[in-house]
Amino acid sequence: MSASATPAMRQYLDAKQQHRDAILLFRMGDFYEMFYEDALVAARALELTLTSRSKDANGGGIPMCGVPFHAVDGYIARLVKKGFRVAICDQVEDPRKAKGIVKREVVRVVSPGTLTDTNYLDAREPAFLMSIVTTDVARKLQPSERARGPQPTVGVALLDLSTGEFSATEYSGEDGLQALADELTLLKPREIVAPKSDTGSTDAVLPSIAANGLPVTPLEPWMFELESARRTLLDQLRAGGLEGFGLDRHPAAVAAAGGLVHYLRESQKVDLAHVRSITYRQRADALLIDPTTVKHLEIVEGSEGGRDGSLLDQLDRTVTSIGSRMLRSWLLRPLVSLEPIRDRLDAVEELAFRTTERGKFRETIKTVQDLERLVARAALGTAGPRDLVGLKQSLMVVPRVRTVLAELQAPLVRSLVAQLDELVDVRDRIDATLIDDPPALTREGGFARDGVDRELDELRTISRSGKQIIAEMEARERARTGIHSLKVRYNRVFGYYIEVSKSNLHAVPLDYHRKQTIAGGERFITPALKEYEEKVLGADERILERELEIFEILRAAVAEEAPRIQATARALATLDVLSTLAEDAAVNNYIKPQVHDGDDLIAVDARHPVVERRTSITGDAFVPNDISLNGSSCQLVILTGPNMGGKSTYLRQTALLCVMAQAGSFVPAREAKLPI
Ligand SMILES: Nc1ncnc2c1ncn2[C@@H]1O[C@H](COP(=O)(O)OP(=O)(O)OP(=O)(O)O)[C@@H](O)[C@H]1O
Ligand SMILES: [Mg+2]
Repeated sequence: MSASATPAMRQYLDAKQQHRDAILLFRMGDFYEMFYEDALVAARALELTLTSRSKDANGGGIPMCGVPFHAVDGYIARLVKKGFRVAICDQVEDPRKAKGIVKREVVRVVSPGTLTDTNYLDAREPAFLMSIVTTDVARKLQPSERARGPQPTVGVALLDLSTGEFSATEYSGEDGLQALADELTLLKPREIVAPKSDTGSTDAVLPSIAANGLPVTPLEPWMFELESARRTLLDQLRAGGLEGFGLDRHPAAVAAAGGLVHYLRESQKVDLAHVRSITYRQRADALLIDPTTVKHLEIVEGSEGGRDGSLLDQLDRTVTSIGSRMLRSWLLRPLVSLEPIRDRLDAVEELAFRTTERGKFRETIKTVQDLERLVARAALGTAGPRDLVGLKQSLMVVPRVRTVLAELQAPLVRSLVAQLDELVDVRDRIDATLIDDPPALTREGGFARDGVDRELDELRTISRSGKQIIAEMEARERARTGIHSLKVRYNRVFGYYIEVSKSNLHAVPLDYHRKQTIAGGERFITPALKEYEEKVLGADERILERELEIFEILRAAVAEEAPRIQATARALATLDVLSTLAEDAAVNNYIKPQVHDGDDLIAVDARHPVVERRTSITGDAFVPNDISLNGSSCQLVILTGPNMGGKSTYLRQTALLCVMAQAGSFVPAREAKLPI
């Protein structure tokens, strides 16, 4: 029979047919194999040895290469980082129980925007997936109708699959498209999805997509049609309407968000339990600093490109990864309304003053792991036992955080503390199910506690006391038959059997079935013995299976609580950021700015937060400067000075003072009154 006709190859070709845009990893035994063109491409990309699998119908060898199953995650990540999509085709039934060929299915498709492997994500940065769609597509307009209508609105949805952070917004007109282009440059999504053959959606921002080298995945346009997108979105959010999310009047945003959810459900084949909320982003909610300014002010990246030398690097004393990501987003998106800015500043002020509480709080949250990403992994089905125990341990700090911060009065701190949920139910459930120090991966087994499950306990008893039980059975049979030389033995051909010598054969009871005659006697089996044998031999296998079942139930239960865990995670992270800004203020001698809605910008003895540190390291003194500007009497400063005189630094420090203040941070100055 030629290889092209083998059932396995037929299965392969079927799966490949459905995922032509991806490299298909096909599970065979202990390997994931790639064939044909995929094998050629992957062998090159992963430096694997190319072999060939028998002959196809035309007598040619099929190019093939493979990777061991236990190392597959690393290979997937490497392929995805090189820009490929990877479809994983697994055995979806136990090969030993399969009748004929084992069933295989594509269980997940990984792409740049859906790679959530913690080993390959930067803990301090988000990993966004963006969808872009025009209202034309959402409403199914014909091209001829489009030409007549006004400029279309562009709907954009943004999701960090690794945390569940989900938002949508709309852009229209020239300004809008510029804002979208800026957003792309600033957020650098890992992947953009858009309806295929809809030139309107991405054309307008193509230059910035190209300039940033962002991969675009074209999808079927119907996924973005308003009605189906709306239904998908409602179903995902478990909501009856979109009013509560502020999306009801934004069809383009709904189309983008619904299309994105559809794409993820299809490629991840899971429920995305960590995505149960979405926010509509108003442009007026935050100060939109354009990418050029972000770059020149060196807010998140220094002049060399990395974090070094940036404002973020200078300020980031966060304890947790979520805190670090949050501080980054606060600096990129400073606030524009007075009240929330003042709330943050008041909280920072109190935390700066309360040195002891601040220290205790920061010490306490050191054991908090990346809760957002842990719960996302639970929802995506990739969390292992150690992840869930990490989640439990992280939640255990909540009561102590409450106590440590109990005396604080700042309204923002108080409301954050009030939002902390101890999640005792989740914590207890994990604690009751998993041992304290489990293996990272489920395949090793041995992570479920004794006493969690009756069947598991029985299986373990059988497995642990196999010999003991055989000895007991032997004793019982001897007593029952009166044959003192009766033996229970095991061999690989018959399994367990009872051996009776010739002289005692007359005493063998009726329920013994003869299996074999040997020189000195005969060998028998009994139904009870076979039943027990099946149990013992199957026990270890079944133990692992049962542990996996128990784990999957636990993981799903944790995922269902995602919204509560996320809320607590975010409250903890916000407290982390506020305490960080307080720490910065105390360490660097920053002061609380007076932020107001007038137009006076006055700073006395202001410094540049980054240059100041640099000069202090080299032993030079930073020379503080004043500034005073307003809308009426002093709108303009003409700044002159020698080369390297500090002009650029002066301009930047003035801008940074405003960015810091509006992000909620204290500022490097002796006095500061800043407008928003
Ligand atoms: N206020 C200050 N106190 C101490 N050192 C400073 C101060 N301002 C700037 N510097 C240092 O002086 C150097 C030159 O600063 P900057 O680039 O701002 O000067 P410039 O006037 O813009 O120069 P150019 O005319 O070349 O554009 C910087 O490397 C910085 O470390
Ligand atoms: Mg200059």
